[in-house]
Amino acid sequence: MRTILLGPPGAGKGTQAAVIVNEFHIPHISTGDIFRYNIKQGTDLGKEAKSYMDQGLLVPDELVVAIVEDRLKQEDCKTGFLLDGFPRTANQAEALDNVLRNMKVALDKVINIEVDKERLIKRVVGRRICKECGATYHIEFNPSLKEELCDKCGGQLHQRDDDTEATVSKRIEVYLNETQPLIEYYKDQGTLVTIDGEKSIDTVSQEIVAALRRES
Ligand code: AP5
Ligand code: MG
Ligand code: ZN
Repeated sequence: MRTILLGPPGAGKGTQAAVIVNEFHIPHISTGDIFRYNIKQGTDLGKEAKSYMDQGLLVPDELVVAIVEDRLKQEDCKTGFLLDGFPRTANQAEALDNVLRNMKVALDKVINIEVDKERLIKRVVGRRICKECGATYHIEFNPSLKEELCDKCGGQLHQRDDDTEATVSKRIEVYLNETQPLIEYYKDQGTLVTIDGEKSIDTVSQEIVAALRRES
């Protein structure tokens, strides 16, 4: 299974990715997670990425494309992958097409998760992430059993630096300008499936898995 999760900040890409990779036994490639890992490790890439991420802006295409290209060439991507948060610009989508063409493989489906703007802001501002294992929670919509502690590993929950109301509004604006046009791009390629992301987490998971299992 070779697939992409497309959708605005807070649409539920990371949440649904966890379910999909488990169901289809494929690696989860989140460019946002790769940058956050590099920030934590203090690498040059992390330092550069952070200057954009903190402002809600996109990291330049050259940097992102090189990382994804490298990652897709690794052994575990041979039978499939799930891209979360990439591509985000027309340039990135074209670069991905080239990489896949060279690898002689094609995308099966692009899942486009749709959610209303007001709800996106609520989701992002209330999000909490486990510092240890990266599991995602929401203070209201998907709370952990013990406040501020992860159900899966007991790790401390924290807020992402870019999850403020001001930054998320900027991220949504950037999504509308740069990323939303990719919906048409993948519609034209015949791979797009749109999912209503406002339903419960479980319902959205079921609908995505069913769409990925469908032949056409
Ligand atoms: P990235 O980390 O990809 O962030 P994003 O796209 O803004 O998306 P989010 O991770 O905020 O949302 P999500 O859709 O994963 O939602 P989640 O499942 O967590 O990118 C961060 C930054 O990195 C970018 O701004 C940019 O600077 C840089 N970057 C990354 N990729 C790049 C690229 N390709 N090019 C250039 N720059 C790049 O859910 C959100 C919350 O809602 C959670 O609390 C969750 O519990 C809750 N929730 C989820 N689903 C539901 C539901 N159905 N009902 C109720 N609550 C729900
Ligand atoms: Mg995410
Ligand atoms: Zn955890």
